Amino acid sequence: MTVKNLTGVSEFLLLGLPIESEQQNLFYALFLAMYLTTILGNVLIIILIRLDSHLHTPMYLFLSNLSFSDLCFSSVTMPKLLQNMQSQIPSIPYAGCLTQMYFFLFFADLESFLLVAMAYDRYVAICFPLHYTTIMSSHRCFSLVALSWVLTTFHAMLHTLLMARLYFCADNMIPHFFCDMSALLKLACSDTRVNELVIFITGGLILAIPFLLIIMSYVRIVSSILKVPSVRGIRKAFSTCGSHLSVVSLFYGTVIGLYLCPSADNSTVKDTVMAMMYTVVTPMLNPFIYSLRNRDMKGALGRVFCKKKVFFSLW
Ligand SMILES: *[C@@H]1O[C@H](CO)[C@@H](O)[C@H](O)[C@H]1NC(C)=O
Repeated sequence: MTVKNLTGVSEFLLLGLPIESEQQNLFYALFLAMYLTTILGNVLIIILIRLDSHLHTPMYLFLSNLSFSDLCFSSVTMPKLLQNMQSQIPSIPYAGCLTQMYFFLFFADLESFLLVAMAYDRYVAICFPLHYTTIMSSHRCFSLVALSWVLTTFHAMLHTLLMARLYFCADNMIPHFFCDMSALLKLACSDTRVNELVIFITGGLILAIPFLLIIMSYVRIVSSILKVPSVRGIRKAFSTCGSHLSVVSLFYGTVIGLYLCPSADNSTVKDTVMAMMYTVVTPMLNPFIYSLRNRDMKGALGRVFCKKKVFFSLW
C-alpha cells in the first residue's frame, strides 16, 4: 500500500458501458457498425468535396473540416471502447488516459467552433449576398479555421495540464467508457478546487459563446428574410441553413441535455448514454444530414462517379 501511495496509479480501468454480459456481442457489433459508418460517411464527404470543384466554396470547406473533426472525435473513444469490450482487463495507462482526454476536448471544441464559422458563413450568404465572395475570401476562411485550432489547442492543453498536476493514489476505476474529465476528477486524491473552477469558467465560455454567436446569426438571418418575405428567399434559406441547423441542434441538444438537466445523484447510466449520443451518434449522423437533403452533394456524387465511368469507358 505504501509503495502504491508513493508512486500513484499507473493505469486506469475503464468500466465501460452498463451492458449485461450476454448482450455484449450484440452491442459490440452495433458499435462497430456505427463506427465504420461514421468513418465511411465522413471520408466520403471529404473526398467528394476535395474532388468536385463545384464544392470548393467556404460552406463546403467548413463542412469538410467538420467531417474531419467528426472522424477524429469518434476515433478518440470508439477503438478503445471496442478493444475493451473484447478484453478481460479494460485498462488504459495513465499517459494514454490523459492523451485521450486531451484529444476528446480538442475535437469537441473544434466541432463547436466550426459550427460557429458555418453559422457566420450562412449569415453573410443570406444577409449580404452581393458581398459574399469578398467577405468570405479564402484568406478569411483559413483564418477562421486556424483560429479555431489555436483556441481549441489552448483550451484542451489547459485542462490536460491541470489534470496532470493531480495525484491519483488508490481508486483507479473510471465508471465510463473513456477518460472523461469529470469522472477522473472524482478519483483524484489531491485538491481539485482549481480544476473545478477552471472547468466552470472555461466550460461556460466555450459552450455559451459559440451557442450565442450561432443564435445571433440565425436571428439576423430570420429578420432579414422577414424584412422582404418571398417564397424564393425562404426556400433558399431553408435549403442552405436547414442542414446546419439540424447539426447544431443535435450537438447542442445533447450537450445541454447532459450538463443542464440535473440528473439523479450519481446517475452514471444516464451520463454514459448521453455521452454515447454525442461521441458516436452525432458524428455518425452529420454526413447523412448534410448529404441526404442536399442537392449539391448529390450532384457532386453523380459527377464524381460519372466522371470515373467516362474515364473507365475511355480505357
Ligand atoms: C478546412 O478549411 C480550410 C479553409 O477553408 C481549407 O483550406 C482546408 O482544405 C479544409 N480542410 C479540410 C480537411 O477540408
